[in-house]
Amino acid sequence: MARGAAFLGTEHAILCGAMSWVSERNLVAAISNAGGFGVIACGAMTPELLDKEIAATKGLTQKPFGVNLITMHPGLFDLIAVCAAHGVSHVVLAGGIPPKGSVEAIKAFGAKVLVFAPTLALAKKLLRQRDGAGADALVIEGSEAGGHIGPVATSVLAQEFLPALAEEHIVFVAGGIGRGEMMAAYLEMGASGVQLGTRFACATESIAHPAFKKAFFRANARDAVASVQVDPRLPVIPVRALKNNGTEEFTAKQREVALLLDQGTIEMGEAQLQIEHFWAGALRRAVIDGDVENGSLMAGQSVGMVTKEEPVVEIMAELLDQCEAELSRR
Ligand SMILES: Cc1cc2nc3c(=O)[nH]c(=O)nc-3n(C[C@H](O)[C@H](O)[C@H](O)COP(=O)(O)O)c2cc1C
Repeated sequence: MARGAAFLGTEHAILCGAMSWVSERNLVAAISNAGGFGVIACGAMTPELLDKEIAATKGLTQKPFGVNLITMHPGLFDLIAVCAAHGVSHVVLAGGIPPKGSVEAIKAFGAKVLVFAPTLALAKKLLRQRDGAGADALVIEGSEAGGHIGPVATSVLAQEFLPALAEEHIVFVAGGIGRGEMMAAYLEMGASGVQLGTRFACATESIAHPAFKKAFFRANARDAVASVQVDPRLPVIPVRALKNNGTEEFTAKQREVALLLDQGTIEMGEAQLQIEHFWAGALRRAVIDGDVENGSLMAGQSVGMVTKEEPVVEIMAELLDQCEAELSRR
């Protein structure tokens, strides 16, 4: 973990992955204050809102934290400028391949860039690009994770990516990690650290609605299901969330948008945007308004290991104790 911790500037190389609506100033500061690495989820925020959120987070912690930007945000470069103005130390580019010039723009103000990559070949390319365009670290995230997911399990990604990259590069592993023993396993395989989301989503410091938290405490691994794609023309990035009326509605939404495509009423780009907007609004409804029936309860399969509300320091201590005990046992 030392390499990962040095890279992040933290005590422990444990990132709390950005969770839209959940990863705001309070949770982010709590994670960083506990020795981990909090990451603000910019999501669909405007530059003005991101500016406020970063400033407020700085007011709650002196420790390093990052900002997660979604690559398809139409104002990506304005958001990068906001990060630059605040001297943000780490920017995570999520949701797709970083657009041309984005990595350079971030590195130009001295921040480190973390990226995701779905395949080993792409990971190598993103990490090795020259002329200041290479990312500084990689996050591999398996399909057990909550939120938008790829098709491959964390255990398989770890076997593909870590032996090939971990010696030379900083690689963090995410998806399905609920206990320290699992962290120990990935660290032993060469990971520089881990990223968890689901396990931290219901911490005491998380502003998620009590009803959202209750749904997590009640849920089992098998309740956190990946959304299905309905129409072959309409590629949908699967989202893992707790089953509810909202997940059914998502299927209905896809049918509705597919019909509009059939009728030629909308273009493909607009169709995909509508699908994405469905989730953005739905997550807010669940996290902020507590509408656990119709909102999106994005959660990973480790949700079964989230059983009660605990302060971030306690979750962190438990994970570290389990990790240490496991490594000593080995
Ligand atoms: C409620 C929720 C919202 C999320 N939103 C985002 C997001 O906005 N951007 C992102 O890159 N990842 C997002 N994620 C993924 C997390 O950052 C993290 O990688 C993931 O939760 C790790 O897997 P785990 O849930 O199995 O711990 C989200 C996850 C959850 C549970």
